[in-house]
Amino acid sequence: MTTRRPQQGDFQIEPPVARHADVVPAVEDRSYIVFVLGALVMALLGGFLLSVVISLSLSGTISWGEERLPQMTQAHGWAQLQGWAGLFVAGMALRLMPRFAGRPPIRTNVTLPVFVLLFFAAAGRAVAQSSPAGTAAETLLLLAGLAGSAGCAAVGIAVGYTLARGRKRPEPWRYFAWAGAAWWLVWAAMVLIAAIEGARNDAFVPARLDDAMAWAVMLGAVGNFVFSVQSRSVPVFFGRRLPSRRKLAAPGALLNIGALLAIASRLPLHGPVRERLLGAGLALAGLGLLWLAPVAGSLWGEAKRLRPRARAAARYVLAANVSVALAGVLLAWAGANSLISGEFESFAARDAARHALGLGMITMLIIGMAQLVSPVFALERAEARPAGLEDHLAWWSLVAAIVLRVAAGLAYGHMDSEPRMHIAAAAGVLAWLGLGMFAFSVARAVRKEPRMKALLASAAGVSETERP
Ligand code: HEM
Repeated sequence: MTTRRPQQGDFQIEPPVARHADVVPAVEDRSYIVFVLGALVMALLGGFLLSVVISLSLSGTISWGEERLPQMTQAHGWAQLQGWAGLFVAGMALRLMPRFAGRPPIRTNVTLPVFVLLFFAAAGRAVAQSSPAGTAAETLLLLAGLAGSAGCAAVGIAVGYTLARGRKRPEPWRYFAWAGAAWWLVWAAMVLIAAIEGARNDAFVPARLDDAMAWAVMLGAVGNFVFSVQSRSVPVFFGRRLPSRRKLAAPGALLNIGALLAIASRLPLHGPVRERLLGAGLALAGLGLLWLAPVAGSLWGEAKRLRPRARAAARYVLAANVSVALAGVLLAWAGANSLISGEFESFAARDAARHALGLGMITMLIIGMAQLVSPVFALERAEARPAGLEDHLAWWSLVAAIVLRVAAGLAYGHMDSEPRMHIAAAAGVLAWLGLGMFAFSVARAVRKEPRMKALLASAAGVSETERP
């Protein structure tokens, strides 16, 4: 190992050595870590904490926040969707899409302001809707809406620009990414409308508007990026060929038409027409999800193409896709019922599907893919030791949380509210613990990263002082 200082006359080699239109300079982009940490803060101090509070309040066990329960339920839903899912998906999209498209990384003077806007939007809405009623709460909700609108639009534009300027190979991930970028622009408009309506209405967004938006965000803005990234990597992890554009066209169209119908159901139409539109949207999107989970993701199998240490993370991907398929069945059922009757039907199936997506597709996939694709975990993936006790505890807590929360949803109408909401609260505590353990492993990986990089560099015979 050589450790001398650089001297006059030394050559400094700038990566990459190869220069070609398809080669992107190897510039390290670490701003995604800020998004991951922000998402974890929103989940642990916002969405999952509120999930326990509202469940206990709905069960009548505690009276804290009782008078603001409808607002706090929305605060929980949007801390999860804008904060947990939104920040993570935005961070990963801004990092991965340029790589997929063969473009240089998006600069931090773009990504960091986007993070600030999105974080303020999520935290501002959560605080506004969990605080006492008044003008301060309404003003904060409006400001959060303005920031969220700017942040979502910036994500949509940045990803769209990257795709437009990048390589134009006809791979399926590009179509999902385009659809995802368009949905972030739709989200930008929706978040502003919701904030204006909420600010006029005691910080409560009209329930039907809020519900339609939540479906559009889960299926459109989050779902498309989830399947974009999955379709490009997950089949390979499980030893299968990547699906072709033709194979994913029909389920992708079902997902997006479903999300569009869900949003269209908020147009000023006759009541039964609206319910039928939403019903048709949920049914089509449900079929799309059921189709996409095995084709773009994976429902079973062994991640043979991964190292033994990384295989423990691949089980999160399987659990996520099983939850997606379950949500698909539930949505197809609930949507078909409303399509036939023209009424709001099957609350139980809708609530269970929402949480199968929120905990399964979103939470499990975030944890699995973060460990499989983010560079900060690269060194842990290469370790020879098998998954440790903390990995197993996190996994089982989260699996139990999904089972309990979906069961609590399905038990609606068959069980008293008190025990049902106690089951939901238990799910919330388990999910919080599982996520806490994941947050700990992220912090450990971030802390270990420089030391491990130095070790790897010295093992390769390159000293720190010689590196450019
Ligand atoms: C184990 C963890 C969770 C628990 C205990 C939980 C609990 C609840 C409860 C009790 C409700 C109210 C249901 C009702 O109206 O009767 C609710 C609504 C909701 N939850 Fe969760 N939840 C959890 C995780 C999540 C996750 C991870 C997401 C999304 C990523 C999510 C998204 C939503 C949404 C969008 C709503 C509807 C909010 C509204 O009415 O605007 N939840 N949740």
